[in-house]
Amino acid sequence: MAIDRFVGSSYSQKLPSGSISWQSPSNIALVKYWGKYGEQLPMNSSISFTLKNSHTNTTMFFEPKSSSEFEFEVFLDGKRESSFEPKILKFFERIEKYIPFIRDYKFRIETSNSFPHSSGIASSASGMSALALCLVDMELQLRSTPDGSPSLSEADIQKASFLARLGSGSACRSLQGPIIVWGEHPEIEGSSNLYGTQYKFEVHEKFHNYQDTILLVDKGEKQVSSTVGHELMHDHPFAKQRFEQAGSNLSKLIPVLKNGDVSEFIKIVESEALSLHAMMMTSMPYFILMKPNTLEILNRIWAFREETGSKVCFTLDAGANVHVLYPEAEKESVLNFINTELSQFCKNNEFIVDEVGFGAVKK
Ligand code: PMV
Repeated sequence: MAIDRFVGSSYSQKLPSGSISWQSPSNIALVKYWGKYGEQLPMNSSISFTLKNSHTNTTMFFEPKSSSEFEFEVFLDGKRESSFEPKILKFFERIEKYIPFIRDYKFRIETSNSFPHSSGIASSASGMSALALCLVDMELQLRSTPDGSPSLSEADIQKASFLARLGSGSACRSLQGPIIVWGEHPEIEGSSNLYGTQYKFEVHEKFHNYQDTILLVDKGEKQVSSTVGHELMHDHPFAKQRFEQAGSNLSKLIPVLKNGDVSEFIKIVESEALSLHAMMMTSMPYFILMKPNTLEILNRIWAFREETGSKVCFTLDAGANVHVLYPEAEKESVLNFINTELSQFCKNNEFIVDEVGFGAVKK
């Protein structure tokens, strides 16, 4: 099976104490992943823009040890963050068979985000991706000669994406850029449920430097965790239709990305965002993840488009924040619109100006 190639074998050497650092970005889905099966496998294919400015920096310090327990500590912005540790423990347990050396070292994982921790922006995608890269990089060092410091091959990045997925599904789309597909799609050769792959079809220049300004409407804890949200798709009355819709939206997006038809792009992307929220409104139990200010922003975006002919649009994750997407050519006018009309609906008027990026970098 395809998965076998990710299973780790034993290592002939042990590394002395050391550290590895990676910076990995967040990503924003255009066609959403919502619903999973088995070990973090997606019920439908999804596609995302990798972001540039919203990222996590992770330094993983390691030290050889002899006990067989997992041993690690997590630090956020220099302070011990034990609340992250259960999630990392679960991650380590899941990935152990693929990266068997993790019981042989004690780890100190130091992480910091370019966006405020309390911004309500999920750090799990960028965080799990950065950590998976550190681990695969370490595995590479374990296999290499002492003087060699090889860089990660395409196969290594695939393995890191495979591992990142086991930490947080959408994290597998954060390693590379600018556009990543995750989940098997009949029209996209090489697409896989196991890891993200770079979107290889032609992309119109309008989408090369697409802008994403993230409006921070609600900075609190998510009302529904992704785990619970994905779970709710299991007995969902519209699950089958939703999974089919995602596949067909991805099919529709292929020619749109090629020919630069931004009006069609808007229809697909906004419909995807609202469908994701509709799934949560029609599950049992049901949730409304938008806030009044979210709705206010969406209406203002529609009115602005109507009045000015702008090609600005929105997408949403499983929360109240709004990602405002627009072509780079409109940067000045849309940022002006955001400053004068939309920022009043954000907590402390805060938003993050971001754009399409190219993936993780070793530090
Ligand atoms: O990666 P998870 O399990 O937190 O799921 C996140 C899914 C969405 O962000 C809502 C959509 C997506 O495809 O990123």
